[in-house]
Amino acid sequence: MARPATIFSCSACGAQSPKWHGRCPSCGEWNTLVEERAPAPGAGGGRGRPGGAGGPGAAAGRAVPLRDVRVERTPRLHTGIGELDRVLGGGLVPGSLVLLGGSPGIGKSTLTNMALGHLAAAGRRTLYVSGEESAAQIRLRAERLGAHALEVPVLAETDLDAVLATMRAEGPEACVIDSVQTLHSAALDSAPGTVGQVREVATRIAEVAKRSGTAVLLVGHVTKEGSLAGPRVLEHLVDCVLQFEGERERTYRTLRALKNRFGSTNDVGVFEMAANGLAEVLDASARFVGEATKAPGSVVLAAMEGSRPLLVEVQALVSPSELVPPRRVCNGLDRNRLALVLAVLGRHAGVGVGAADVFVNVVGGVRIEEPGADVAVALAVASAARGVAPNPAPLACFGEIGLTGELRSVAHPERRSAEAEKFGLRQVLSPATAPTLRAAVRAALGDRDRPVRAA
Ligand code: TYD
Ligand code: MG
Repeated sequence: MARPATIFSCSACGAQSPKWHGRCPSCGEWNTLVEERAPAPGAGGGRGRPGGAGGPGAAAGRAVPLRDVRVERTPRLHTGIGELDRVLGGGLVPGSLVLLGGSPGIGKSTLTNMALGHLAAAGRRTLYVSGEESAAQIRLRAERLGAHALEVPVLAETDLDAVLATMRAEGPEACVIDSVQTLHSAALDSAPGTVGQVREVATRIAEVAKRSGTAVLLVGHVTKEGSLAGPRVLEHLVDCVLQFEGERERTYRTLRALKNRFGSTNDVGVFEMAANGLAEVLDASARFVGEATKAPGSVVLAAMEGSRPLLVEVQALVSPSELVPPRRVCNGLDRNRLALVLAVLGRHAGVGVGAADVFVNVVGGVRIEEPGADVAVALAVASAARGVAPNPAPLACFGEIGLTGELRSVAHPERRSAEAEKFGLRQVLSPATAPTLRAAVRAALGDRDRPVRAA
């Protein structure tokens, strides 16, 4: 008896299998395979062609030496938002697909509205497709963003075919789909936002975009754990993945590229949510240093956010705990890295915090993901544990901590030091000035080289 054609797709890597497995045979992740109905024959977006995949009937292609490959250098579209253009590697590339991920409320709709507004004001054809909000809701937001934003044509629609038909009819140079998880293709039975739907939506939009040279910004929701809600498959399909991070309640938000076929993944943009949309923060270091508390438990990290130096305050609190095991809480940092830093601090620098609760926070909602932050975390904790403010305060520092207690060099030491000096922090504690964590603690907190335990 013929069974309905179903396949199983891995929500982590996108691999497909005719059978269900507890563990994905391709990427090894557990419980990621979800059942989907195979697309109806003849429905658009089918992957692979008959006779494709090197079948006996396929004609051989011609391989060309790279130097003979013709490259058309199409000028990029400038979104009018400097930080966004920089993260994209110089603006939107016509015909490309950019995925903008971020948790709800972070400002994805605001950022994309603003970008299209600027493009429309510069005489570009734009289109804003929303499957989440009504046209009236979008207008209310656009009113806050200024006159440019009101120029953008909107379509409130969730049906993929209607969206594609509108894209073909309007021929926008830049188009926003907000969000990819809300569109729905009638060719598949599954609900919007499922692996199959999202793949189908993105694939078919990409086809239209490539053909018409439209730059498409796909908005995607991100779960609390940081992965794109539902399918990661999208990350493979698009040219750039941008991540909008920060906490809704905090002022600062960072935009970084996790993948970029047309530029580096090093650049980070800093934004602030204001009453009239997102404002670029160009003097982030000055603000963070100006606000640094100079109290015990506070140090300034000379970080690199991609290719840009950034000074941020790292704060720690060490307090007696009633819990076993005690709490280790951090914001803006990796928890495992904190555990490592605390272990080295206790074992090699004489600052044990074994039975105390430790809280570490990167101020302003910034997230730091580089090993250069280790020393700042260690010194903030040591300073909090001893109740002694670092000298000088605020103290700028950077460096990675090795498992044997040594400080290890990190990328761009000159640029970090130069940034610190620019904002009046002349003395910078780094692997060049302190070879070990013990020496760094002594240099920052004075000569009390005896084991200290938080009360
Ligand atoms: P939004 O862009 O809708 O977030 P997302 O699309 O990522 O879910 O907006 C996020 C929040 O920002 C929203 O709660 C309202 C606030 N906001 C401002 O503070 N100022 C503004 O000018 C705008 C447009 C929004
Ligand atoms: Mg939104």
